[in-house]
Amino acid sequence: MALLHTRRLLAAPRFFTAAANRASSWWSHVEMGPPDPILGVTEAYKRDSNPKKMNLGVGAYRDDSGKPYVLSCVRKAEAMIASKKMDKEYLPIGGLADFTRASAELALGENSEAFKSGRYVTVQGISGTGSLRIGANFLHRFSRAGRDVYLPKPSWGNHTPIFRDAGLQLQSYRYYDPATCSLDFSGAMDDIARIPEKSIILLHACAHNPTGVDPRQEQWKELAATVKKRKLLVYFDMAYQGFASGDINRDAWAVRYFIEQGINVLLSQSYAKNMGLYGERAGAFTVICSDAEEAKRVESQLKILIRPMYSNPPLNGARIAAAILNTPELRQEWLVEVKGMADRIISMRTQLVSNLKKEGSSHNWQHITDQIGMFCFTGLKPDQVDRLTKEFSIYMTKDGRISVAGVTSGNVGYLAHAIHQVTK
Ligand code: LMR
Repeated sequence: MALLHTRRLLAAPRFFTAAANRASSWWSHVEMGPPDPILGVTEAYKRDSNPKKMNLGVGAYRDDSGKPYVLSCVRKAEAMIASKKMDKEYLPIGGLADFTRASAELALGENSEAFKSGRYVTVQGISGTGSLRIGANFLHRFSRAGRDVYLPKPSWGNHTPIFRDAGLQLQSYRYYDPATCSLDFSGAMDDIARIPEKSIILLHACAHNPTGVDPRQEQWKELAATVKKRKLLVYFDMAYQGFASGDINRDAWAVRYFIEQGINVLLSQSYAKNMGLYGERAGAFTVICSDAEEAKRVESQLKILIRPMYSNPPLNGARIAAAILNTPELRQEWLVEVKGMADRIISMRTQLVSNLKKEGSSHNWQHITDQIGMFCFTGLKPDQVDRLTKEFSIYMTKDGRISVAGVTSGNVGYLAHAIHQVTK
């Protein structure tokens, strides 16, 4: 007792010093923030020592042995670049021209009138997020469509802070029907028809994140007509070109169709997923303009926005992507590899459903195979997600999204068993 008392006395001055320090610090008011809803899942996964653990949180492709996958066309492009012994000078503010041109062509198509006439500007961005942020800042400074950005409900978790931190206001339109685990098309159309004229609407070009639910082509046509009638400013986020169908042209269909209808869209692209260039941060931001002269003026302002943010973009990822896109053999190899990644994910969806049936699950899991792209919006509730993590070391975002790219033939049985245990 006496010893404890002495200890307390000794500890007290230290405590008071810490408290006094805290009170006098510049940052005493800074509160501990929550972990990121997506990237925080990876942090928790890394701390888990269970050998059966699975990370189905972040959307990052894995091969069938669960290992990160570097595309063979990327390895070849890197070797090609290394052999040229190029310098490391700054890129121009708008990025590598071979990269931005090829990115625009990849999205718009080589026969696109907007592409051929040059009534567009594409600048290099820091992957998808950085490209969206350039777009958000551009909208904040120049939008005639007000400050309201309408996002699908739900949307990628990072969309809200990207637009909010750029000073825009977030609104939403219905998109997903939890009752059917599919697109709520009539709800979306009703809501979009009521969006005040000349507002900004964000659309996922393909492989909607987090739901894996895309409109069909006829539905996109109806959407385009409504958007045009309401004079909405359309911002396409295309982070998964090639990952939805395995075909880069098919996945860009909606973007191309809208532009053909005379809708001058904004577009963000990412090469994180379809080239596996996650950490290289290669992406692009495009504005379709009414003519080439307008595109020049817009470009000048994008440069003025970018310069004080990060001066100019990183070289390496853009060089790799440009080499792949502009070298016919590498491009061909890439298309085959993208299809291979998309196909592996599709086969994991089928295997997951058949394993759930084998487990004896009586639920209807058809949405797992109906949904497309990297993610499956399972319909699992937050308490079920919690149990999967606590009891089975299976990590995913709280909304029940799983990155199917993290499922392999080796662990699909374990996943099905665990899902059945928490849903039966
Ligand atoms: C995801 O949704 O998991 C990916 O887009 C990665 C990210 O940055 O959130």
